[in-house]
Amino acid sequence: MTPSLLDLHGSPTAATMFLLVHRALRRDLARFPQAVRLLPEDDRAQAERIVDHWRRVRGALDEHQAAEDDQLFGVLLAAEPALSDVLAMLGTQHAALDAALAAIEAALAELPGAAASRAADLLSAFATDLDGHLALEEEHLVGVMLRLPEPAAGVGGGAGAAARADRGWLLAWGTEDLDPATLRAVLSRMPPDVAERAPAVRRDHETVVRAVWRDLPCAGEQVPSRPIGWWLREADARLDAAFDRGLRGRDTDRRGWQVLASLAGRPAARADLVAALGAFDGAPAVEAVVDDLRSRGWIEEWGGLLRLTRDGEREQLELAAIVDAVRGQVAAALPHGDYPTLVRLLEQLVAGL
Ligand SMILES: [Fe+2]
Repeated sequence: MTPSLLDLHGSPTAATMFLLVHRALRRDLARFPQAVRLLPEDDRAQAERIVDHWRRVRGALDEHQAAEDDQLFGVLLAAEPALSDVLAMLGTQHAALDAALAAIEAALAELPGAAASRAADLLSAFATDLDGHLALEEEHLVGVMLRLPEPAAGVGGGAGAAARADRGWLLAWGTEDLDPATLRAVLSRMPPDVAERAPAVRRDHETVVRAVWRDLPCAGEQVPSRPIGWWLREADARLDAAFDRGLRGRDTDRRGWQVLASLAGRPAARADLVAALGAFDGAPAVEAVVDDLRSRGWIEEWGGLLRLTRDGEREQLELAAIVDAVRGQVAAALPHGDYPTLVRLLEQLVAGL
């Protein structure tokens, strides 16, 4: 699962820029094969636009990998020696990716024309390999990065090594399709001069990428790189993870919260409660949560209904504040006002199937 760009409170972390670069690489590597495949045989100007943009993206990837090889991997190895095998594997993958990049450069140099199909195939294969590599880094490195006492030099995804002028472009590219709330949070941690220039650089960047991508999904639009089922499962897993982070240290999880919240002020028959929460878990799982909360003295059975005890009411109130923060994170992840729209669209999807 790809780690979140921001922490639970919507603030950037030591891994935010690192993850922004990963996100932007995946986004554009999903576009390049399509753009090259759609390139008209005689459109030399468009071929130049695509290749120019490829050079900048390739430059960002090179900076990112160099920062990892030269600085980040060493810092992480010192902090977590158990990463030794993973870091060795990632270093080997860097070399393999470099070799694939050389083949792509050769094919792009022959555009436009007959080389387009081969260039698109190479770009597509590279996107798959890079995705696996980035996922391996995210799985093993980000947790350690977040525990480092000081952000490691270079973890800004190469931004630290880039020339001042290129930092503006790197920021515009990395944040190209971010929602406004996340963009504001990212800019809040930038040096003042970079943040000040960001809107102008972003406008110039948008002009360039609209010409490069033409009719492909562009800034502010989703690239449908994965099927809807994947996004639904991923969204649910991330909601679980956000709740787990919020409830860390408490003696319950998202399922326990759901039972407590369902019973707050509304005693219910056990069968009705199990049916109401059946969309999240099967009946045995809900029953087990109910039994667990009863054994802790947070809920009790009275007159054939389940209800909160005083301890349960206290726990539910304390958890409510935590859950509100998680909900705030969910709302902030979407453009302003789009949360109800998303829920309505999901309702329509469910009703229509
Ligand atoms: Fe890497």
